[in-house]
Amino acid sequence: MVLPSDADASGRRFGEEELANLRAVLDSGTLNCTRGTFVSRLEQEFAARYGGGGFFCTAVTSGTAAIHCALAALDLEIGDEVVTTSVTDMGAITPILFQGAVPIFADIGAQNFNVSAGSIEAVLTPRTRAVVATHLFGSPCDMDAISALCRERGLYLIEDAAQAPYATFDGVRMGTFGDIGCFSLQQGKHFSCGEGGLVLTKNPDLARRIRLFHDKAWGYGDPKPDHYFSAPNYRMTELAGAVALAQLDRVEGVVRDRQQSANAFLDKIADIPGVSSQLVSPRAQNVFWKVTLRIEPEAAGADVRQIGGRLKDEYGIVCAPRYVQKPAFECEVLRDKRTLGSSGWPIQDAVWPTPDTLPGTYDALAHMLVLPWNENYTREHVEYIAASLRATLDFFHS
Ligand SMILES: Cc1ncc(COP(=O)(O)O)c(C=O)c1O
Repeated sequence: MVLPSDADASGRRFGEEELANLRAVLDSGTLNCTRGTFVSRLEQEFAARYGGGGFFCTAVTSGTAAIHCALAALDLEIGDEVVTTSVTDMGAITPILFQGAVPIFADIGAQNFNVSAGSIEAVLTPRTRAVVATHLFGSPCDMDAISALCRERGLYLIEDAAQAPYATFDGVRMGTFGDIGCFSLQQGKHFSCGEGGLVLTKNPDLARRIRLFHDKAWGYGDPKPDHYFSAPNYRMTELAGAVALAQLDRVEGVVRDRQQSANAFLDKIADIPGVSSQLVSPRAQNVFWKVTLRIEPEAAGADVRQIGGRLKDEYGIVCAPRYVQKPAFECEVLRDKRTLGSSGWPIQDAVWPTPDTLPGTYDALAHMLVLPWNENYTREHVEYIAASLRATLDFFHS
């Protein structure tokens, strides 16, 4: 069976509304957001619909750009520390380096794969200025405890909700707990315009700095505008904005369909020895960017690489044993400090964690099997994936 994939039309929901918006942009001849209307409508609609009242949104070119804008808005000093997660997309980490700050890695839970208030607190120092909490695979971190910790310690809290739009904790949406929420509209996310990002905040001062930073810090609309500080161009095009705006009408349906099929799948495999799902707080709603399992090799009869390999080769289920394979700080850019020339700046003095200091990270990665998930999965697809997993484990047991 061929499963719908987010890499092509089989697993994406683009239709007449996206086409009509694209045509309107092209007919207008204005492809640039400083004069067009679609990107600004996207910003207003997302702020109002997602955040409720009082939020400001800036649309940018990627999730990485969104994280960069969020960090730049904090006006960090060189060498300030930003606590982040050991297991995430590199696009959430390199912006810390771009701003001259040092990433500090908090451990993740071996069962829930997320940072916690305890693991963040364990790595705070007098130089810590901000925390980036990533809701991995669509499952929320415990935002109650993390928000309280950040408030107590006077730290900015940025939420990386790239994988978790519309996920909730205590009924509150991810990206609206912290000072700033960041989203990605890249091809494989819940809603997409190919590449793009959104930055959300309730704080008008941060909102102004985010908006300035995304556009060369030029003070549009000010009485005496100037380029106020060093900043890139992360403006979204009207073409991307046209698609993203239409996607706003679809994303809640996408989330519901993913939740329904993923929960049905998890029910079907609940009795398989050695297989459990990512542990999600009873106070949280997971939006299943992926369905992530934890495999205990002794009980399952094989490890994640063996199981993942067979699922792919025998059943065409292209899963990711170990997700990103290794903690971020073991990737060459950080391990070898490849930043600006041979300076190693700003991480020249950084000492990275080890398996002893981040045991949850290494345990989680060794046992993690990430299954692709999609809003267009039918009951038959779900049954096929569950049956394939069962047959794979039977194979290793026989
Ligand atoms: C958790 C997380 N943060 C940040 C990013 C970066 O987003 P983008 O690829 O849109 O730059 C991603 C993207 O995959 C992600 O999954």
